[in-house]
Amino acid sequence: MIVPISRIKDHVGKEATIRGWMYNKRSSGKIHFLQLRDGSGMIQAIVCANDVPSEVFEKGEKLTIESACSVTGNITKHPKFDDVFELQAKDIQIHHLNTEEYPISKKDHGPDFLLNNRHLWLRSSRQWAIQRVRNTIINATYEYLYNEGFIKIDSPILTPNACEGTTELFEINYFDEGKAYLSQSGQLYIEAAIFSVGRCFDFGPVFRAEKSKTRRHLTEFWMMDAEAAFVEHEENLKIQENLVSHIVKKVLETNLKDLTVLERDIEPLKKIVPPFIRMTHKEAVKELRSMGSDIKENHDLGGDDETILTKKYDKPIFVEKYPAEVKAFYMKRDPENETRVLCADLLAPEGYGEIIGGSQREDNYDVLLKRIKDHKLPVAAFEWYLDLRKYGSVPHSGFGYGLERLTGWICGLQHIRETIPFPRMISRLTP
Ligand code: 4AD
Ligand code: MG
Repeated sequence: MIVPISRIKDHVGKEATIRGWMYNKRSSGKIHFLQLRDGSGMIQAIVCANDVPSEVFEKGEKLTIESACSVTGNITKHPKFDDVFELQAKDIQIHHLNTEEYPISKKDHGPDFLLNNRHLWLRSSRQWAIQRVRNTIINATYEYLYNEGFIKIDSPILTPNACEGTTELFEINYFDEGKAYLSQSGQLYIEAAIFSVGRCFDFGPVFRAEKSKTRRHLTEFWMMDAEAAFVEHEENLKIQENLVSHIVKKVLETNLKDLTVLERDIEPLKKIVPPFIRMTHKEAVKELRSMGSDIKENHDLGGDDETILTKKYDKPIFVEKYPAEVKAFYMKRDPENETRVLCADLLAPEGYGEIIGGSQREDNYDVLLKRIKDHKLPVAAFEWYLDLRKYGSVPHSGFGYGLERLTGWICGLQHIRETIPFPRMISRLTP
């Protein structure tokens, strides 16, 4: 019977077949130790010359790294470790024997080599673990948002206008319609949808022609935008804080083994519970300057600022109420100080920095029209968006997270390029 490795503990003392690939091998004369993986887990198969027919032992001898095979035998518990199982091989079937040496070995390869071989690198145990954590984050997001009454609404990728600023747009020629742009965020569209369904979210690839070569930037990444009618600034932060806490909790419940593969210290993750830390942009600037940053009063936080600030606290930080001039046109001004907006960036601890950007939206037609003009955006392209403030306008808020930033932080990675199956960066488009 073919059994997934993840279910193997229910088969102790019985015979089972593991079908997959040989990850690694150690041999000592009359014994082969085959490390097998099948996508759901990893198990060691022991092939003893004394216990199997000689042709089976020879198949074990012949198997090369990443060859595809099935191994059948009795499942036993590891003599020393709980929750570790072994397969005492009786038979081996080779599905595909690799005759060329597998390009990725145990030795240290540089990042470029690994990225060039991303299609193969994905099989290695760290990359496998990262994808499993990413998957849990996606699932936990759906779960939390459904429970809070949000439904999924898909936003378009081909768009006639910018959402987040015109300097980072990928432009394409769109038949007779002229220029179209790849979406930077589905926000404006799910804002339209809340007037139909109340609360909704999208989740899909977005594109930024950003010339940033940092460990936090990709040109294609996955964003989840959530939006809700009648939600104002304070409640917007509560939703984000509970969502992020739920995600981290789910990963700790589901992916402990993966986090071990990644050598992720889980103590910092256990501290991710509400309430998160809150400070205004003004307070953040003051604190940063006292820590040696040369940030100016009305400037955005730089990557280094986010790093030093978030190393100081062990919980995520909401930095609220940025100066209006460094934020997007759609953000509502703070009634207590018109130079500031009702926004917050959520910064992840341990030096990771921004994972979420969100705000309350401007809901007044005239004010929004003025903002669009002030930002020198083409009014015609935003007419449909302005309509939302003409018919049944209500206070509303939303936010967007970057899946790769979130995954990078939770997995404890140096660079977010490892969190997406096929990263796209300024100088990387293949494989
Ligand atoms: O802060 P951003 O630009 O916000 C928006 O796009 C809003 N429209 C979202 C909303 O309110 N619905 O992007 C949101 C998040 C960032 O906090 C960051 O996590 C991620 O997207 N992000 C990137 N991730 C990887 N590479 C990049 N180049 C990114 N740019 C933003
Ligand atoms: Mg942002």
